[in-house]
Amino acid sequence: MAKEIKTIGVLTSGGDAPGMNAAIRAVVRKAIHNGVKVKGIKKGYQGLLNEEIFDMQPHDVSDTIQHGGTILGTARCMEFMTEEGQLKGVEICKKHKIDGLVVIGGDGSYRGAMALSKHGINTIGIPGTIDLDIACTEYTIGFDTAVNTAMEAIDKVRDTSSSHERCSIIEVMGRNAGHIALWCGIANGAEDILLPEKYDYNEQAIINNIITNRKKGKKHHIIINAEGIGHSTSMARRIEAATGVETRATILGYMQRGGSPTCKDRYYASIMGAYAADILCQGKTNRVVAYKHGEFTDFDIEEALAMEKSINEYQYEISKALSR
Ligand code: ADP
Ligand code: F6P
Repeated sequence: MAKEIKTIGVLTSGGDAPGMNAAIRAVVRKAIHNGVKVKGIKKGYQGLLNEEIFDMQPHDVSDTIQHGGTILGTARCMEFMTEEGQLKGVEICKKHKIDGLVVIGGDGSYRGAMALSKHGINTIGIPGTIDLDIACTEYTIGFDTAVNTAMEAIDKVRDTSSSHERCSIIEVMGRNAGHIALWCGIANGAEDILLPEKYDYNEQAIINNIITNRKKGKKHHIIINAEGIGHSTSMARRIEAATGVETRATILGYMQRGGSPTCKDRYYASIMGAYAADILCQGKTNRVVAYKHGEFTDFDIEEALAMEKSINEYQYEISKALSR
């Protein structure tokens, strides 16, 4: 028989992402609607170990859905990587009568959730990361806002790049994944798109492309470089020396993680938050909420972590065809 859930906790962990507040709000309100108490846990697993735990009511999440960041705060917590830390977390949950926990974060955060689950605390993960690098789901909270923010910034760099007839290398986030770079590369009409999953480090091919485009009369040359490849500044120096075309590097950085979430991020995060509260209240554990083939669904965390995500081959081919 499924364990009866009376009180749940909610935390955000790892890098923040726009839309996390919509997810927290939905967890709190749907759980309370289902007759379950909710406790907020500040600063991820670190806050759990520090017992930064407080009761939450529906009004505590008022006026939050439109804001970036996370009202609960977030952290990376080394202590929670150890079994000792995890057991301490279990005891603290028991002490605060938390029998279920919603963890909003990425793959790393699910490993922590899995550990709690193994020790009897029902846990559900929600994919929260701008990187879109979680294999079991086609949507992660924050990606849509991040690519829209980056796309607008890249358009601006393109304006000045064209005026000065320069080449621009624009580095976008994504850790080891190239999803932000691919989406911006297509949406911004970039001339070259460098993805960690695909790049062969053939800089000469980029140089040849710039020279060919100049001959065709193109005034700008936008290269979207993924963070996982990096080294944009030194790449710019080498390209300028080889082509004679003034080349600048722009690293967009943390601006991609902030700002008011898009409608899509607010909507999907709200559904995922409510879904997580529902399955937790039903007594499910060790699951991660996902969006796959047009449906909201959930997977076993261990199975989800074993899945691999790659760049869609057809979409990558299209990105190359459209950039020529
Ligand atoms: P993300 O959740 O975005 O992937 P991290 O990989 O930094 O971000 O993980 C966030 C936090 O999750 C870590 O700081 C740590 O507290 C916890 N965590 C990560 N990996 C593990 C693990 N193998 N076991 C237990 N907890 C983990
Ligand atoms: O996972 C989100 C992300 O912004 C990545 O794109 C980036 O590599 C990383 O977090 C940066 O992490 P930190 O906030 O620790 O510098």
